[in-house]
Amino acid sequence: MASRKAMILGSTGQVGVELQRSFAGYGEVLAYDRSQADLTRPGAIIETIRQQKPSVVLLAAAYTAVDKAESEPELAMAVNAEAPGLLAQACAESDILFVTYSTDYVFDGSKREPWVESDEPRPLNMYGRSKLEGERRVQQAGGRHLIFRTSWVYGPHGKNFFLTMLRLGKEREELSIVADQTGSPTSSIAIAAATRTVVDRMEGLSSAEAAARSGIYHMTCAGSTNWYEFARHIFSECADQLEGRQPRLRPLKAEDYPTPAKRPSYSVMSNEMLSNAWDVRLPAWQDAFATVKNRLQAPLS
Ligand SMILES: NC(=O)c1ccc[n+]([C@@H]2O[C@H](COP(=O)([O-])OP(=O)(O)OC[C@H]3O[C@@H](n4cnc5c(N)ncnc54)[C@H](OP(=O)(O)O)[C@@H]3O)[C@@H](O)[C@H]2O)c1
Repeated sequence: MASRKAMILGSTGQVGVELQRSFAGYGEVLAYDRSQADLTRPGAIIETIRQQKPSVVLLAAAYTAVDKAESEPELAMAVNAEAPGLLAQACAESDILFVTYSTDYVFDGSKREPWVESDEPRPLNMYGRSKLEGERRVQQAGGRHLIFRTSWVYGPHGKNFFLTMLRLGKEREELSIVADQTGSPTSSIAIAAATRTVVDRMEGLSSAEAAARSGIYHMTCAGSTNWYEFARHIFSECADQLEGRQPRLRPLKAEDYPTPAKRPSYSVMSNEMLSNAWDVRLPAWQDAFATVKNRLQAPLS
């Protein structure tokens, strides 16, 4: 196989950081942060792609501020839809594999069994609409591509529910947490590991097979929970990190915790397609959580 080169965009994000780990040993790895690859200036990134000629572009950067997107719809669209579409087009023209991520928030939450890829997306918020439009534009670009829809992403670093709970647990006596939204917490570590495996398998295929297998795949940890139960799990597993404190937890209804963006009440996604097409299964969310927790305790491992 010719020497491989991966270009990771969004190197400071939760998934971007872990992709740099999981692609170690892949070949050359180029990782760009916002200052080096700003999605509001896609032309400059396309120029870099043409110069560097990577074998795969992994777009892990996105506008992820779900509530803020309601008041910044143009920016959310530019970053989550326009830029991914243009980058995917540039990759298609040079036969470069394009990989990116989407979200469970493309669904409206009205089902009570896991969402499958063929279900009709109906986003409840601007972030979801911008990500859905991004999916469509990447698909329209027509090149080899993989779009992984994931959910409730957390990991050992970055802005996420897990680290927020650890911080608040040390500061507050009591926390009220939404208990009527069900989903699958998914670790950045598990996403990055699964992405590497699928990319390796995709690159082993003929162009025709790779084109046929391009598309959207749900990629989440197995099992489901709600935010309240996830918080309970965090506090029971991380008691040693809380300096002897344990906040009281109260279950809350989403309607009693109004946010600018509406969120789906049920966004669990079936990973059957990922498993059938690529023989890849992510761990149970509790097992993935244990891995994240261990990494937090041994940050240099
Ligand atoms: N977080 C979740 O719960 C969740 C759930 C479902 C799907 N996803 C999807 O999974 C993917 C990875 O998410 P994540 O949780 O790793 O995201 P994240 O931790 O919020 O990181 C977002 C990254 O995007 C970068 N970024 C934002 N605006 C940019 C711009 N204009 N130009 C270039 N870079 C920009 C950020 O840079 P700075 O560090 O400079 O801000 C950061 O590196 C995204 O596609 C996201 O939509 C996430």
